[in-house]
Amino acid sequence: MAKPIGIFDSGVGGLTVAAAIKELLPEESFIYFGDTRHAPYGDKSRDTIQKYSTEITRFLLEQDCKAIVIACNTASALAYEKLKEKFSDVPMINVVDPVVDYVAENTHGKIGIIGTRATIKSGIYKKKLLEINNKLKVVSKATPLLVGIAEEDFTHTEISRHAIKQYLDNKDFKNVASLILGCTHFPLFQTEIESFYQGKAEIVDSPELVADRLSHILSDHGLHNKDQEKEASYDFYVSEKTGAFSSIARNFFGADIRLKEKVLS
Ligand code: DGL
Repeated sequence: MAKPIGIFDSGVGGLTVAAAIKELLPEESFIYFGDTRHAPYGDKSRDTIQKYSTEITRFLLEQDCKAIVIACNTASALAYEKLKEKFSDVPMINVVDPVVDYVAENTHGKIGIIGTRATIKSGIYKKKLLEINNKLKVVSKATPLLVGIAEEDFTHTEISRHAIKQYLDNKDFKNVASLILGCTHFPLFQTEIESFYQGKAEIVDSPELVADRLSHILSDHGLHNKDQEKEASYDFYVSEKTGAFSSIARNFFGADIRLKEKVLS
C-alpha cells in the first residue's frame, strides 16, 4: 500500500494531474514519467502512441507502482483500452472518463472541447458524452499549438493570449456553457481561458476530477497508503531533460525534486 502511483504524459501536462493528486492524497507517493523525447503525442499515429504508452507503463510497473494514471488525453483516447487489456492486473485510470461523467451530469447548455489533433479526431469525448445523453450539444476543436506553448513555458504571455483568442473567438466556442480542457497541458492556461470567457463559461478542471477518481479506485482496491509515519516521495523521469520541464516541475513541487533522464526506446 505504501507503493507509489505511476503517472505519465508526453511531457509537462500530466504535472497538472500529479499536482492535484498530491493535493488530494498527500500521503501517496508517485513516480512521474514525461516522455519529452517523443512529445507532442497529439500528432502521432495510434500505433506509435500505443507503443510509447506500453513502454512507459511497463517501466512504471517495474518500479513497483501499485496503480497507473494515464495523465494524457491523447494516450487515454488511443491507448487506454490496449493498456488495460495488456496490464489487466493493475488498477488503471484515464483522464477522459471522470470529465465525461462530470460534464454530462452538470452542464446545461453547449459543451466545448479542445484537445490535441489525435484526441479530437478520435471523437472520444463526443462519443462518450452522447452515449450518456444524446441530446447534448457538443462542439470540438483541435488546438495543438497550446501544447507547444506550454512545453516552452510560454503561458501567460502575449503568445498564449493570442493563440487562445485565435482558437476560441468564433461563433461555435463563444457561447459554450462548459469548456472541457481535453489535454492535460491546458490547465496551465486555466486563468487565461477564464479571462477570455470573463467567467461566463465553466472551464472544467480535469486534474481534480482525475485525482478524485483515483482516490475512489484506491479505496475500491484497498490500496490507500496507511503508513502515515513515512513522508510521501515524488520521483520524476523524463525521456529527455528540457529546461521547461525542470522549471514547471519545480514550480509545482519545489526546488529539490528528484529528476532523472530515462530513455525507453
Ligand atoms: N498532454 C497530452 C494530452 O493530454 C498530450 C499533448 C501532446 O503531447 O500532444 O493530450
